[in-house]
Amino acid sequence: MIPSSRRAASVRLVQSWILSALGVSACHAAETAAPTTKVPEPFAVQIAPTATSVHGTEPPPRKKVLLALEADGRRHRPEAESCSDSPDPRCGPQSTGCHSDAECTAPGTACRALGESYCACTSTCAADSDCGANQICNCSTDERAAFHYGSVDQEGRGACMNAGCHTDADCAPGPANPHFTGECLLVVRDVGCSTSATFVCGSDKDSCKSDRDCTGGMKCMPGANGLECEEESQCMEGRPLYVDEVPQTADLRSISGSWSRQYTFLSVSPDESLGAAAARAAAEEHASIGAFARTIVELIALGAPPDLLRETQEALADEIRHAELAFALARAAGSPREPGLFLAATARFSSPDTLAADLARSVLRGGCFGETEAAIRLLERAFAVKSAPSPASPTDASEAPTEELSAFYTDLSRDEARHAALAFRTLGWLLKAFPREVVPVVVDVTIPASVASIVAPILAGLLGDSVHAAEGAPVAETGKEKIADAPLRA
Ligand SMILES: [Fe+2]
Ligand SMILES: [Fe+2]
Repeated sequence: MIPSSRRAASVRLVQSWILSALGVSACHAAETAAPTTKVPEPFAVQIAPTATSVHGTEPPPRKKVLLALEADGRRHRPEAESCSDSPDPRCGPQSTGCHSDAECTAPGTACRALGESYCACTSTCAADSDCGANQICNCSTDERAAFHYGSVDQEGRGACMNAGCHTDADCAPGPANPHFTGECLLVVRDVGCSTSATFVCGSDKDSCKSDRDCTGGMKCMPGANGLECEEESQCMEGRPLYVDEVPQTADLRSISGSWSRQYTFLSVSPDESLGAAAARAAAEEHASIGAFARTIVELIALGAPPDLLRETQEALADEIRHAELAFALARAAGSPREPGLFLAATARFSSPDTLAADLARSVLRGGCFGETEAAIRLLERAFAVKSAPSPASPTDASEAPTEELSAFYTDLSRDEARHAALAFRTLGWLLKAFPREVVPVVVDVTIPASVASIVAPILAGLLGDSVHAAEGAPVAETGKEKIADAPLRA
């Protein structure tokens, strides 16, 4: 399975898990009723169109890729393309959200699919001139360029995206920019739990031109000194514990202690890359324990019902298990670690006036977005492990082809999907109990494009039509396009 279909398959499966945990899809009820701690075969699941597909078939093959792809993997934009403004056939009577362009009355917007069957009024364009000064009209079918759009547009319809250059001509070397290489390069960078694509002028000072120049699973991304190889993801595994907007983790000590003794990975042998990744994930899972502990206290303070407290307590127990598993994996891979002090867990709580809104913000970001994204990434990893060639790739030991790792990642993914569903339930309760404080938080939220197809329709449903009318634009309209990057390079 190639990576793009791996992502699409993971999104679909995680979406079905979240919806069934929310009781939205009756056909998945049985799946949710039996708590599953181990799902060894994600690959038994057919990667076929789901019941929510508008057409019931896979999208047609992509027509063309408008970016120049060089042999070393770099992608650049020789010239501006003209995009189609034809209606999106995925949006129609069967779709949820909007159904036709006529419903999108805001200037420059049209009804476009954000996923298999959810459509929203989003900005659209036919040429660069339809977009802002630091934007291009992107209708490339190159899947990396389509990241910002939430899905690859099969028909070449355009969407404005932020860009530091328009075409290669903007990047010609000259007196002011002697180091430019004459290429307007596509680069993808991580923004927390989502990924964002943009264009920047290549420079002979860049230390990479594409991901192929990077080793150890790192990606070629804009850094302080031009394009640099960086760790792919800063996305926390599970629910982050934020203090002053910064996710916190405990410092880890290089010893093997009680955190890594509960579980054993029999098939994993020492591997530096896998050990480091597992230790980092373990620290994040450990932080999630603190995040859920604080959430329980905040829910008690706000008078939450017992079911919500019980589910949150169960999620906390999941995170203890996740941390133990990840510490055990780190130990098996030759990187024994143990968490030290984690004083961030005792950080001051919000004041009573802002507690409901602050909790809603935290649940949205860490739960609805973060846990959804974590579930997708874990499932992608499970797919990657399963399909990795044998022996393991020398540059990415995390793809060691073991059933054990595959089951581990799938198990965690399923738990994180359940935690995402809990986040939506918690938010639903907060919306009902504290509408004045919480509705504005949800209406104004920025939905990462990477999870928009799953999250946007659920949030829109939670808000409800009456709240929409009272507060202005639907969340799906306001959310997706807010993933704005400042130009990365002038
Ligand atoms: Fe979680
Ligand atoms: Fe977790």
